[in-house]
Amino acid sequence: MKLSIRPRRMRISEGVRALVRENVLSVDDFVYPIFVVPGKDRLEPIDSMPGCFRLSVDNAVKLCEKIEALGVRGVEVFGLPEYKDEVGSAAWDMNSPVQRAIGEIKNHVPNLVVIGDVCLCQYTSHGHCGKLTGSYVNNDETLELLAKVAVSQAAAGADMVAPSDMMDGRVAAIRKALDDNNFINTAIMAYSVKYASAYYGPFREAADSAPAFGDRRQYQMDAANSREAMKEVALDLEEGADIIMVKPAMAYLDIVRQVRDSVDFPVAVYNVSGEYAMVKAAAAKGWIDEKRIVLETLTAMKRAGADIIITYHALDAAKWLREG
Ligand code: PBG
Ligand code: ZN
Repeated sequence: MKLSIRPRRMRISEGVRALVRENVLSVDDFVYPIFVVPGKDRLEPIDSMPGCFRLSVDNAVKLCEKIEALGVRGVEVFGLPEYKDEVGSAAWDMNSPVQRAIGEIKNHVPNLVVIGDVCLCQYTSHGHCGKLTGSYVNNDETLELLAKVAVSQAAAGADMVAPSDMMDGRVAAIRKALDDNNFINTAIMAYSVKYASAYYGPFREAADSAPAFGDRRQYQMDAANSREAMKEVALDLEEGADIIMVKPAMAYLDIVRQVRDSVDFPVAVYNVSGEYAMVKAAAAKGWIDEKRIVLETLTAMKRAGADIIITYHALDAAKWLREG
């Protein structure tokens, strides 16, 4: 048999493979999520997310210095507040850990891109992402609260705000509030396509943000839908989003590809806590090769079209990419 076309020729050596490689993972792609808590000198391991910690602001700053040294470009800041109430008012308190962390990180590590997560679920006594009317998460009354959170984070020095609440109209409300307060250059990375997902389990434990009753299916998206994702993306762009996010990542890479193909804006993907926990658990058992699994998985996110990858693996992956 004489084959004239042999794809294997392009796989014959590492040199040839490198020359024809279509997608290359880079440390420039990564954003690392951090959890900040009240107090000083706190560094508490999160059981279901080995390698991740709840950090007081002083330790968060120290970690950010290491993060920058690794070449990682950005952090997304989540927080556990000092107090919770019905409307989540600690979310816009300038003395809350998130606002203090944003300010301190920008003071000490000014070139690190600092992104504030805008939501209320870590701050409300009931754990929902908005203000309640009875058991209904009241969309329109939540918008003004989210706008306050975004403005407080911008005032603290955030480069970007990332609304993760899934209320309708929140990007427009946040954009207007930022502009009205002269934060015209604070970008919005919108969690545009955020599914109601079991993959958020470990995060909710880490951030103490599980809903006290019901679930989030009246605001987060149904995992069965993809056309609806395109509608959410179109709306967020109309409202002024700068970056579109899809979340979770691994089970939703078809959505990442569809979004990438339909917009000219940067696309981010959030490789969430449950995805991380599964990899870490299997690696701890010696059932998988963690380094290879992680780099393969993150490369798949890039291949699907992600420009930005928010991942708890960022620091390990940065080291692995450096060692080659
Ligand atoms: C809060 C929020 C969640 C995540 C990011 N922001 C959880 C949720 O919606 O319940 C999940 C992140 C992760 O699982 O890593 N709105
Ligand atoms: Zn929330």
